[in-house]
Amino acid sequence: MAILQFRLLFIFLFSLFRSSLSQSCSSPAIISSNHAAFTACSELQTLSSSLRWTFDAATSSLSFAFSAPPASGAGEDGWIAWAINPSGDGMLGSQSLIAYRQSDGKIGVKTFNISDYAIKPSPIDFPTADLAAEFVGGVMRIFGNLFLPKGVTHVNQVWQVGAAVKNGIPGKHDLTPENMNAKGKLALISGQSTAAGDSTYRNRNIHGILNAVSWGILLPIGATIARYLKTFRSADPAWFYLHVSCQVIGYSAGVAGWATGLNLGSKSKGIRFATHRNIGITLFALGTLQIFALFLRPRKDHKLRFSWNVYHHSVGYTVVVLGIINVFRGLRILSPGDGWKLAYVFFLCALGAAALLLEAITWLIVLRRKKTEASAKLNNGARPPLE
Ligand SMILES: *[C@@H]1O[C@H](CO)[C@@H](O)[C@H](O)[C@H]1NC(C)=O
Repeated sequence: MAILQFRLLFIFLFSLFRSSLSQSCSSPAIISSNHAAFTACSELQTLSSSLRWTFDAATSSLSFAFSAPPASGAGEDGWIAWAINPSGDGMLGSQSLIAYRQSDGKIGVKTFNISDYAIKPSPIDFPTADLAAEFVGGVMRIFGNLFLPKGVTHVNQVWQVGAAVKNGIPGKHDLTPENMNAKGKLALISGQSTAAGDSTYRNRNIHGILNAVSWGILLPIGATIARYLKTFRSADPAWFYLHVSCQVIGYSAGVAGWATGLNLGSKSKGIRFATHRNIGITLFALGTLQIFALFLRPRKDHKLRFSWNVYHHSVGYTVVVLGIINVFRGLRILSPGDGWKLAYVFFLCALGAAALLLEAITWLIVLRRKKTEASAKLNNGARPPLE
């Protein structure tokens, strides 16, 4: 009984503690650097954060205070970031202000023009003034003024929190949905902040899953089937139909995934994953070529069959290798958590191990076949049947 009461008390105290950390617009007014109260306040939808601001449309100057508790109770050792992204709705391209402990031991703000996941302090596209940061009662806060381009009324805002700072650079943040959805539109004048369309986030996941399953899993499996099952005479012609089904299903899913990728690419203005995109387009071209080549396949005894085989194998293996490379590139862009990458590496290892085993079995079978055929020739003086 006493234990239960103690637990209830603990939960109550903990929730008090949590709500004191979550930044609501009803908590005591925060005063801007020029000692005026802010005219607008918005509780942001994730990471217990809030933004207060005053926007002067005549001069396009934005005076703001962003508040959030750093990640996982890291307190003063963590970091918080607030950014405007003029070219997209996520981290890349964002003109960021990040607060964390500086080399002098005090909490301060640095600007980061983020064009890469490896971030470093750099000038941003907007002039700034009076940047300052503080850490009070478990909450970190960034103050400052930004001078935005004339005529701006809406901006894409992005915010984030992290737990660690290494060598003077904020470390990686978590990849929970709270972190990934820490972005939205901010209406500077009407004072509205709205969540970023979750649809982009969802479309990226659909794109990732379709392409990982098709180019990254089905096509390599189909290639393995063709290479190894062929050896077993009992598997003829089943291996051929298995191979064709695997590749056709993989290709169809891959084209769907490819189309979602093109769509994502056209929507993300200013953010380009050029290599990922170029490999994707090459894959689509080579994959389509393989499907068409199926219909142009010469008969087994045709004199062009050998050349066709060489062509089919080289393009096929190129598709498999490029597909795997692009899955890894995509995983880096999406960064869905290490578990996914690990699962994919595990799949590749399993496929590799199976291929190695089958390679050994294939050699054994081929060698034994040669031997029996040679002895049959000796015994009967007749040629063994052609394969
Ligand atoms: C910020 O980075 C982008 C992309 O690298 C670059 O085009 C832009 O000029 C940079 N802005 C500033 C102020 O350096």
